[in-house]
Amino acid sequence: MTSHEVTFQPVGRRAACGPDQSLLGLAQELGVDLISLCGGNGQCGRCRVQIVSGQVTEPTEADEENLSDHELDEGFRLACQTFPESPLTVGVPPESLSTAMRTQIESRETNISVVPTVHTYALELPRPSLEHPLADADSLLAVLRQTVGPGVDTVDIGVLQHLSPDLRAWDWRCTASVRGSEVIAIGPPGSRPIGLAVDLGTTGVAGYLVDLERGEVLAARGMMNPQIKFGEDVISRITFARTSPESRKALQQVAVEGLNGLTAGLCGEAGLTIGDVVEAAVVGNTAMHHLLLGLPTEQLALAEVRSPAAGIVATPARQLRELTRQFVPKGALIAKVYDLEKLTVEIAVPEREVADVNVGQPVALKARAYPDETFRGTVTSIATTAQAGAPAPGGDPRTQPPASGGSSARTVLVTTEIDNPSLLLKPGMSGQAKISCGERRVRALVMRRVARTVKVQFWSWW
Ligand code: FES
Repeated sequence: MTSHEVTFQPVGRRAACGPDQSLLGLAQELGVDLISLCGGNGQCGRCRVQIVSGQVTEPTEADEENLSDHELDEGFRLACQTFPESPLTVGVPPESLSTAMRTQIESRETNISVVPTVHTYALELPRPSLEHPLADADSLLAVLRQTVGPGVDTVDIGVLQHLSPDLRAWDWRCTASVRGSEVIAIGPPGSRPIGLAVDLGTTGVAGYLVDLERGEVLAARGMMNPQIKFGEDVISRITFARTSPESRKALQQVAVEGLNGLTAGLCGEAGLTIGDVVEAAVVGNTAMHHLLLGLPTEQLALAEVRSPAAGIVATPARQLRELTRQFVPKGALIAKVYDLEKLTVEIAVPEREVADVNVGQPVALKARAYPDETFRGTVTSIATTAQAGAPAPGGDPRTQPPASGGSSARTVLVTTEIDNPSLLLKPGMSGQAKISCGERRVRALVMRRVARTVKVQFWSWW
């Protein structure tokens, strides 16, 4: 026997199932929290799953005792009794998951005044006659205007498609649901306006059926988002949607089918039909919203990240590539952007010469990489302690240990700000600097040197 890859849907977990491992064992290993009241003995019948594709072992006696012939034909099995014989896709019904893993549909009820966007009106329409041959839609609007006042002037195409037979079937009496200026639904006399509220999450979907007049929640249900089979996270789904128009359509379709199923379940639970639902509100994050409506997602996948400051991206390209298709938690560093137009440069001045250096003195700087260019700045600060020698190339002088050796090796860090509008200078470069120590000191300096020429490294303190 060999291992086979098993994918649990819609939870989207997959792994190789060992030769002696049941689907229940693998599910537990993967954190798919199947109910197993009997501990996997085939007695409780709660760990049922559906084999969507692939081959599994023959049903056991326990399978046959706990599942109907129809369910067995549909591919349902007890996970604790079933072993894969090929790669599998296994569907996990919500009722087989423990409470903790079920979609959260619990909500907190608060007292609010109900202000529905849809209002319903009980109407009785005059029968059309040869003397008054008014079209059904016009008749509906005319009666509505008499009841509600002017302003209602449109009938939704979906209503028009069944308006005439419905009015005749209901003996010219009906309940009309109006949103704004439009009749969006009609129902038989006495029907209540029902609203559907859906929270379309990336992982779970919660649906509520609400009486729009009283604000009462009539039924609540949850399910896993069926789009999970196309990717467990938003980025994977957007990536899939971008592969082709068909992929985008598939993601939309599976979401619509899921919502239809959820609504049917909710209506069944409340003793209603889908036709009773006159208004629906679906909320979700931007990606869920786009995928449900079949909107293009390229602009989401390639969302532009604007740096709050102009500068150069100093994070290596390899590091940036590693972020591809990864979630970036809020507040995490995406990339380092350095403003290189003004660089802070530290100059290691030999201790014996630092006495002539003062804040504000001009500094001319040449980088090894651009020997013909001169960059200019001024001394902005002088370190209060000496350190042992010049910083190692590429090393951070701020982390150099304090001086402990002979004075000849000691240096003092002098900081200067260099204008770098051409952005030629980059952190880590090295070169030489001259600090002009001023007229008053020329003589003294001449005895030594007119200007200091020392090796420097550029550091940016961001
Ligand atoms: S765990 Fe009880 S029947 Fe499978």
